[in-house]
Amino acid sequence: MSRHIPVLLKEAVAALRIQDNGVYVDGTFGAGGYTSFILEQNPTVHVYALDRDETAISAGRALVKKYAPRLHLIHGCFGDMSELIPESVDGIVLDIGVSSMQIDTPERGFSFQKDGPLDMRMGQTRLTAADIVNTFKENELADILFQYGEEKKSRLIAKKIIERRKEKPFKTTLDLAQLIHGCMPHKEGEIDSATRTFQALRIYVNDELGELERALIAAKSLLKPAGILAVVSFHSLEDRIVKRFFQEQSGHTPNTNKHLPPVQKEKPSFELLTKKPVTATLEEKNANPRSRSAKLRVARRLA
Ligand SMILES: C[S@@+](CC[C@H](N)C(=O)[O-])C[C@H]1O[C@@H](n2cnc3c(N)ncnc32)[C@H](O)[C@@H]1O
Repeated sequence: MSRHIPVLLKEAVAALRIQDNGVYVDGTFGAGGYTSFILEQNPTVHVYALDRDETAISAGRALVKKYAPRLHLIHGCFGDMSELIPESVDGIVLDIGVSSMQIDTPERGFSFQKDGPLDMRMGQTRLTAADIVNTFKENELADILFQYGEEKKSRLIAKKIIERRKEKPFKTTLDLAQLIHGCMPHKEGEIDSATRTFQALRIYVNDELGELERALIAAKSLLKPAGILAVVSFHSLEDRIVKRFFQEQSGHTPNTNKHLPPVQKEKPSFELLTKKPVTATLEEKNANPRSRSAKLRVARRLA
């Protein structure tokens, strides 16, 4: 299994402005790349690291020992962080999405390149991707593919799924991928035609956008004044949520009339530190293709 290479690691951790005796949250522990890097910056800092994936937590136990007593590893969702973290903190970092370990383990069912059960759950959620494609109504399926995958052929794919499942339910990732490839043959130079459908199902199964929205609100209540929130996102749906939250909270909500100043609804609770998102350097993009779509946005909590 490939090891997860952290994306925008130096940029995201530098954004936290690590200080002596600081307490930080890594909401997406994964393989512990960010967490270790934060703990290595300064021997006096503590980190609460969360992951909804039990496998990531089990694999992280060795790091808990290595950095004892400074690393507190918690199995849970970042959307629940205000209940899971017992104190106010100086910084929170989120590196959202799936890890390479999750994508590259066929049994987890995230990949359309390797066969595995059609699962896609990062943690203990109720529905698997198979439950959705085998039981949801045609219009519900089409809406999911359109909304979370921005898939233009959502209606066609949903129709074909319904036709096929009448004969035999979908069980595996390749089974579904082959159906999509049948509807939309691969074109040279374009992404695999199954990409958007798989993204949409994964986002829906794990309620990824809802989790992100809850995490941003939770971060507001957990951060001490001057505490930093740094978020790395990997696609436009996530980035839009982060961008809007930061704009609204810092008093920069764009006016519907572009010629008028931003609308300020309430006293700002954050100061925006990145007017434009930070992206990976060419060197990082060449070394790690996953970093190509990454965007880092940073804001500081106001008193
Ligand atoms: C991109 S990886 C993070 C990699 C990590 N920064 C590193 O350096 O190893 C994302 C991780 O976040 C976890 N994750 C995704 N959504 C989550 C959520 N809502 N709550 C907690 N963990 C989540 C995934 O299970 C995965 O392990």
